[in-house]
Amino acid sequence: MNVNGRHYRTIWTEGEGEDETLFIIDQTSLPHEFRTRPLRSVDEVCLAIRDMWVRGAGLIGATAAWGVWVAAREAPADDFSGFMARSVERLRATRPTASNLVWALERQKRAMAGLAGKDAVRAARAEAQAVADEDARFCRMIGERGLRLIEEAAAKHPGRAVNVLTHCNAGWLAFVDYGSALSPVYAAFDAGIPVHVWVDETRPRNQGASLTAWELGRHGVPHDVIVDNAGGHLMQRGMVDMVITGADRVTICGDAANKIGTYLKALAAADNHVPFYVALPSSTFDPSLRDGVRDIPIEERNPDEVRRVSGLTEQGSVESVLVCPPDSTARNWAFDVTPARLITGLITERGVCGASERDILALYPEFQRARGQA
Ligand code: MRU
Repeated sequence: MNVNGRHYRTIWTEGEGEDETLFIIDQTSLPHEFRTRPLRSVDEVCLAIRDMWVRGAGLIGATAAWGVWVAAREAPADDFSGFMARSVERLRATRPTASNLVWALERQKRAMAGLAGKDAVRAARAEAQAVADEDARFCRMIGERGLRLIEEAAAKHPGRAVNVLTHCNAGWLAFVDYGSALSPVYAAFDAGIPVHVWVDETRPRNQGASLTAWELGRHGVPHDVIVDNAGGHLMQRGMVDMVITGADRVTICGDAANKIGTYLKALAAADNHVPFYVALPSSTFDPSLRDGVRDIPIEERNPDEVRRVSGLTEQGSVESVLVCPPDSTARNWAFDVTPARLITGLITERGVCGASERDILALYPEFQRARGQA
């Protein structure tokens, strides 16, 4: 993505040797300010994931992979493996729902097995770069696969834009580059297909209004922000051609955890015969789980994210305000699970498949080994 005339990934390093430093875009400042910041210690990497300076399944995984490299550089020579084991556990505990986090840490564990000191640092760096490059490549391929679906919709409705509804942010900012749900949209826009996006604001943290709208705008894609409750109304009036969302964890049977509210969009889509697609790279599958509603861990975050909203005042400062009575309590589940039966198809880097164990295994036969039985 180009920002202020420079191409950015969402995570990168600058400098060389001892001076090489990890950088991220601080997503808590968007859309009002584009700010990058260095992450110099494993403490800071954990904070960045937990407090959502970085967020989105793919970027959480890539940040954890780079976090292992940061930890390996910090680790004392006389307690290398103890420090690393504690660091990996701390990274693992930052956010529970996205499977990319555990997947990336497991990759790093395998890459560093039996190594210590400089060799371990070198191996961790190479693996973090590989995780990031693969994420970007797979997301680009998701765009190519999903493009066909948008082309088909465009052929059905010549003379007007294809209307895609999305929830939360599964774009460039949620991955290393391109995104999952938005990658087909960018591919269609770049191919000259008229496309328009309905952007759910996505309370409580408003990733749709603040992040999806921002990145679509930078790319020039026409879009409108809508309140979270508008989707059903638009679908009833034929104003949505397809829904494309991302996912944080998808079971071997195709149940998909995504930002809270996704399930309601899937119900409305089914009732109105609107195709509902979930876009994800292979790192988001958790083949060890079958029943997503029962088994996917759902993060519950600070209730103040519900009780308060923040935004830009007319005076130009960002402020947080209370939107409920001061003595009202709140609950804040960050994700919900859409059952496979409500999903028209999964858009992956290997192709589009049905949300079923048979179809997923046909694309990813290697999941057979890790497949959950319960
Ligand atoms: O809490 P977040 O912002 O990390 O949640 C992730 C999301 O933005 C969505 O659930 C997204 O659609 C999936 S992440 C690719």
